[in-house]
Amino acid sequence: MKNAYTMGTTLNNGVHLPWLGLGVYKMPKAEAAKAVRTALQNGYRAIDTASFYGNEEGVGEGIQSSGIPRDEIVLTTKIWNTDQGYDQTLHAFDESRKRLGLQYIDLYLVHWPIKATFRETWRALVHLYRLGFVRAIGVSNFQIEDLEAVIQDTGVVPVINQVEHHPLLNNQALHFYANVHNIRIVAWSPLLRGQYTGLPTLYKLAQKYQRTVPQIILRWDLQNGVVVIPKTTHKERMIENAQIFDFTLEPKDMQVIDNLNQDRHFGSVLDSDGRTLVRIP
Ligand SMILES: NC(=O)c1ccc[n+]([C@@H]2O[C@H](COP(=O)([O-])OP(=O)(O)OC[C@H]3O[C@@H](n4cnc5c(N)ncnc54)[C@H](OP(=O)(O)O)[C@@H]3O)[C@@H](O)[C@H]2O)c1
Repeated sequence: MKNAYTMGTTLNNGVHLPWLGLGVYKMPKAEAAKAVRTALQNGYRAIDTASFYGNEEGVGEGIQSSGIPRDEIVLTTKIWNTDQGYDQTLHAFDESRKRLGLQYIDLYLVHWPIKATFRETWRALVHLYRLGFVRAIGVSNFQIEDLEAVIQDTGVVPVINQVEHHPLLNNQALHFYANVHNIRIVAWSPLLRGQYTGLPTLYKLAQKYQRTVPQIILRWDLQNGVVVIPKTTHKERMIENAQIFDFTLEPKDMQVIDNLNQDRHFGSVLDSDGRTLVRIP
């Protein structure tokens, strides 16, 4: 039977992705191992990491020590900017797989669209997918023109585009394009990295629905068809962030949250050469 942790969406290649996963950015290896184990033992079935996070070994250890069967888990990792290019990607993929200690990866993403290399990188991901080393392939931080380029090159539509997405940055045009092309949006930094305290509108809604602000935000995502991967090291917060399937925001309140958009980033923004345009600690 499906529950809060296994309810999900069917991606455009038929793979199931839970609506809720655990993000592990900025967790050192040992912390990631503990958080992943805790999350899996408390019901989570999707984990989001990246080679850039430097904690793939920890994530692998958390998966192994959780006792949860491998085929119940959807593990996402990503190829970092400096590893991109066709051959480099195949090599980097293998290194990630070894660090994670896994035979296959569920979802492999191009972390950023680096102008000089992302098209070749995508071809390499298609190759890995066709060989069966990954169950699904997708992208992250892609704009519409980047998505169009890889689709045009290969005819393979990314299953997801993982982007910074929250009430102050709701990516409406990108989301519309993604819906038309059956690309699922996954929200990174869905909780604005915890910096939602200056948003009284969200507190009023939290009071109205008798929920916490994170639950209001994550529920808004869910009702918009957006997958969420909030990061926390705390078991109570992992559970709190999952309690979003038993209430519904009224359409007028969805609109109120939509109206908070300011196109404002809380995460770093890179240019097409991988240089940091905006660095946010
Ligand atoms: N593709 C990309 O380029 C990209 C970029 C950034 C992030 N990501 C992915 O997206 C994931 C999530 O994004 P993020 O880590 O940047 O930020 P986030 O999930 O928006 O926020 C994480 C922060 O919120 C706190 N938090 C979590 N649940 C809470 C709750 N219920 N109540 C109060 N505070 C809570 C956490 O603190 P505690 O840990 O102390 O609980 C942490 O400080 C990452 O971990 C990573 O997997 C991807």
